[in-house]
Amino acid sequence: MCGIFAYLNYLTPKSRQEVLDLLVTGLKRLEYRGYDSTGVAIDSPDNKDIVMVKRTGKVKVLEDAIQEHFSGGEYSEPVNTHVGIAHTRWATHGVPCERNSHPQRSDEGNSFVVVHNGIITNYNDVKTFLAKKGYEFESDTDTEVFAKLVHHLWKKHPNYSFRELVEQAIQQVEGAFAIAVKSKHFPGECVASRRSSPLLVGIKTKTRLATDHIPILYGKDADSGKPQVLPRSESTSEFMPLEEKEVEYFFASDASAVIEHTNRVIYLEDDDVAAVRDGTLSIHRLKKSLDDPHAREITTLKMEIQQIMKGNYDYFMQKEIFEQPESVVNTMRGRVRFDGNAIVLGGIKDFIPEIKRCRRLMLIGCGTSYHSAVATRQLLEELTELPVMVELASDFLDRNTPIFRDDVCFFISQSGETADTLMALRYCKQRGALIVGITNTVGSSICRESHCGVHINAGPEIGVASTKAYTSQFISLVMFALVMSEDRLSLQQRRLEILQALSKLADQIREVLKLDSKVQELAKDLYQHKSLLIMGRGYNFATCLEGALKVKELTYMHSEGIMAGELKHGPLALVDGSMPVLMIVLRDPVYVKCMNALQQVTSRKGCPVIICEEGDEETKAFSTRHLEIPRTVDCLQGILTVIPMQLLSYHIAVLRGCDVDCPRNLAKSVTVE
Ligand code: F6R
Repeated sequence: MCGIFAYLNYLTPKSRQEVLDLLVTGLKRLEYRGYDSTGVAIDSPDNKDIVMVKRTGKVKVLEDAIQEHFSGGEYSEPVNTHVGIAHTRWATHGVPCERNSHPQRSDEGNSFVVVHNGIITNYNDVKTFLAKKGYEFESDTDTEVFAKLVHHLWKKHPNYSFRELVEQAIQQVEGAFAIAVKSKHFPGECVASRRSSPLLVGIKTKTRLATDHIPILYGKDADSGKPQVLPRSESTSEFMPLEEKEVEYFFASDASAVIEHTNRVIYLEDDDVAAVRDGTLSIHRLKKSLDDPHAREITTLKMEIQQIMKGNYDYFMQKEIFEQPESVVNTMRGRVRFDGNAIVLGGIKDFIPEIKRCRRLMLIGCGTSYHSAVATRQLLEELTELPVMVELASDFLDRNTPIFRDDVCFFISQSGETADTLMALRYCKQRGALIVGITNTVGSSICRESHCGVHINAGPEIGVASTKAYTSQFISLVMFALVMSEDRLSLQQRRLEILQALSKLADQIREVLKLDSKVQELAKDLYQHKSLLIMGRGYNFATCLEGALKVKELTYMHSEGIMAGELKHGPLALVDGSMPVLMIVLRDPVYVKCMNALQQVTSRKGCPVIICEEGDEETKAFSTRHLEIPRTVDCLQGILTVIPMQLLSYHIAVLRGCDVDCPRNLAKSVTVE
């Protein structure tokens, strides 16, 4: 859902070309958030104007255009202080084209230029207001309205600081935004803010930072002359804004864009306005309520740059599929003790007594994250003996679902920023439920707004299609079920069986990954078909849904995950000698029922590809094509069965010439409804 990136150097000379390189690299890291169009804005060589370059398509197109336009001469002169802003877009308002690309500008003179992630929901009202003031609009975007609104306020309040102008503007817009603004009238300054869309500030200095937090300034300059620093103690000195002699600042939608420059970041909160002026960063808020903090912490990122590089793989998705033996271990690391059969989930342990007393567990998410809830529901029901509801966040909100104070609501989200999931979280929080976040992104909105949670530790997931995050979400929920059943004598045997299976899981995933070339052969048979049906039931129904989602989003082929029990209630009509069918038939309590479904398919001339257990000759006899996976406990089968589906969708996408890491019309982080 759009990536924003801004860079400011203070007393650290950089040429415009270097600034442009930094902006382009930042955009490449954020490209997974949207790739309909891109753009950058920097100062012109005479510092009198702002130069913008925008292109439809991916960052590479922009990079080529920049190389063509800005090589050599005046663009290679170092400048002491410079501000550049950049954007990669996932279109929501207005088709993807240069006119609708960001930065959007306030006027022909480029007084104010803005990059934005989110949706300004009242943009029509603001547009009408500004049109009456004589503003003419050149794009179909909601963002342009913001640029023009700042310009209007600047004309009205010529004495306002840059920060005050942006602060006034954000008071008048509704919806979700993360913005970074640059202005011809405020050279060397950058102002950024967020509401419901993620934004962080990266700080790079030559020497160690003298502080690990910076103050929040509250109040209205226009009224009081100066923003107020509300002291925590008598001494206010420790609360001075961050002032460094030589410093570089980065504003970015997420940490992957800054990690190669610095690991020191501040995650901004809703309605924070971060402004850099004369190299000094300040964070300002208009109002202070009682429990508002005094300072924002400077966090040290744990991420390594290698984690976001492709290495020897052709695509990030491929790399992430093959990382799963390690990522599942990372999810369990420090939490599962196989020798003592003990599990500790540090982020949730103090809440376990309260969770055990709850009325019901609700698991809420979107897309793949929702599927991880479907995959683990049965085990949660079994080990917690509580009612478990699984909900798609969007539908949950549409229904105004009743929520009670003694509900425990899990919000599952790789990015931790998905708007539907976040809104469902706020809905449940307002109604007094306990909020548990299951996310992969430290510092994300869902992390911060949850009462407690589990970080899935899968490592950065760059490919738009989620793979390793799914298996890690799955394991996190399994670990939670095990924690909940720790003191249930009658469940100890079952727990032991699951723990033993967890200890073998990484090696078994390695075994499944060896099927890669076999799956590639299968993909060659399937890639020209129009449709693919994936059938299973019980613990493997989630794999059918997830497999079908992967096929759809990566290959643009139709695919459907079918509950095998529902076959005879309709989908069987689709089956004939030419419809590709994939069936998951494992030796578990639903084996006999799956075999029935298999026979229904073969008796309609269907010739399914079967995913079965190693050495299961009886099942294999029903088809000439099969993929054998190692045997594991029923509730973990879904981890091993989903991997062939991930590989299959990947290979079909490659064969069909699709852009594996950036499927059309999609974005990694969907921060709008
Ligand atoms: C599909 C996929 C999406 C996401 C969904 C929720 O491969 O990745 O379906 O799972 O958009 O995203 P998160 O997990 O970030 O909330």
